[in-house]
Order: sequence, then structure tokens, then C-alpha cells
Amino acid sequence: KRVVAFISGSGSNMLRLAQECAAADFPAEIVAVFSDKADAGGLAKAQEIGIPTFVFPRKDFVSKEAHEEAILAELDRQRPDIVCLAGYMRLLSGRFIARHEGRILNIHPSLLPLFPGLDTHRRAIEAGMKIAGCTVHFVTEGMDEGPAIVQAAVPVMAGDTPADLAARVLTVEHRAYPLALRLVAEGKVRMKNAKAVATGAAA
Ligand code: GRF
Repeated sequence: KRVVAFISGSGSNMLRLAQECAAADFPAEIVAVFSDKADAGGLAKAQEIGIPTFVFPRKDFVSKEAHEEAILAELDRQRPDIVCLAGYMRLLSGRFIARHEGRILNIHPSLLPLFPGLDTHRRAIEAGMKIAGCTVHFVTEGMDEGPAIVQAAVPVMAGDTPADLAARVLTVEHRAYPLALRLVAEGKVRMKNAKAVATGAAA
């Protein structure tokens, strides 16, 4: 399965996916990394391991539509079976999602439906949560609303700062995303009527 990963920052999740894909029995390969930020740290990481990178700075385009049009055109050339948003900090339009419905995955640093949006670790701490975590989900039109594929939880420790919790959650993100990608690439989970459904042997 051909995967295109989207990043905006350090790309640690993209790198973990690339490392897992490199395993002989892994049913997917990352064929390209896209970013909306020319200074995304993950671009150098992708280049170091020989993955082609494409940058689409938002300021180069007159509108969100033009920006997405350029991205969609390159995406068509890459013929992805799966698109993995990995620390991509831009909302995709409904039109974009419809073009790749059921093929776009995202990782969000909270146990959805709790704490959609930004600043999730500070919000979890302030809400007095005793657990936190991440969700890998199919992307649908609403922000952080798509059906979950894999979730992973970690404890919130007394005295945690948001940075402490982010670091602890990131360690399980790096296990959850490769697992979710494997399940989708193997066809064991797919999106049907906006639900994540197990298919075949995993049913
Ligand atoms: C992670 O917390 C991820 O959940 C969120 O962006 C953060 C950085 O991810 N989407 P990465 O290191 O760029 O993969």
C-alpha cells in the first residue's frame, strides 16, 4: 500500500511510521512526505531516509482552495492508498476529505471524544484526568471527529506539566500509529458509513 504522510513539525510520528514500513512484512510504504511548512524538522528526517518531500507553503497561494488544489494535484500523482496526517496542523476542507474519503488517518494527542482541538495536555491536567492518551482515527469533515481505529492511554502523574504529559503520550503515539496503519493497510479495518469496522479475519 502506498502511503503519503503530511507533517507540519518535527515529524516524529512520520519517522516511526517510516521505520515500521521498512520492516519486510509491513504492508505499506511511505512514498512521499508533504508539508505546509518549509522549516518542518521532519522534512530533513524524511530526506535522510530517502523519502521524497514536497513543501506547500500556505503563503505561496492566494487562497485555501488554491493551496489545497496544489496539494491534491501532487497527491493524485503519488496515487496514495492511505494518507497519514502526522502532526499536520491544518484543517482539511470537506472537499479535500471527500476526494480521499476513508483513506485519511490522523493522530490526535487525546482520548477522543475528550479534548478535541489544541492544547490537549494542559486541558486534561486542568480537568483532573488520571489518564490521558492518543487516538488514531479516520478523518471526516468535522475536526477530530472521525471514527477511532486505535487508542492508547497513559497515566497522568501528580505534578505533571503539559510538557511531561506530552512526552509520555508521544511514546504511545509511536506505537499506536504504526499499529493503526498496519490494520488499515492489511484491510483488517476500514471506514464504512463513518464507522471504523473490522473486516475479514479480524471481524
Ligand atoms: C504530536 O503530539 C501529535 O499527536 C500531534 O502533533 C504532535 C507532534 O507530532 N498531531 P510529530 O512529532 O510532528 O509527529
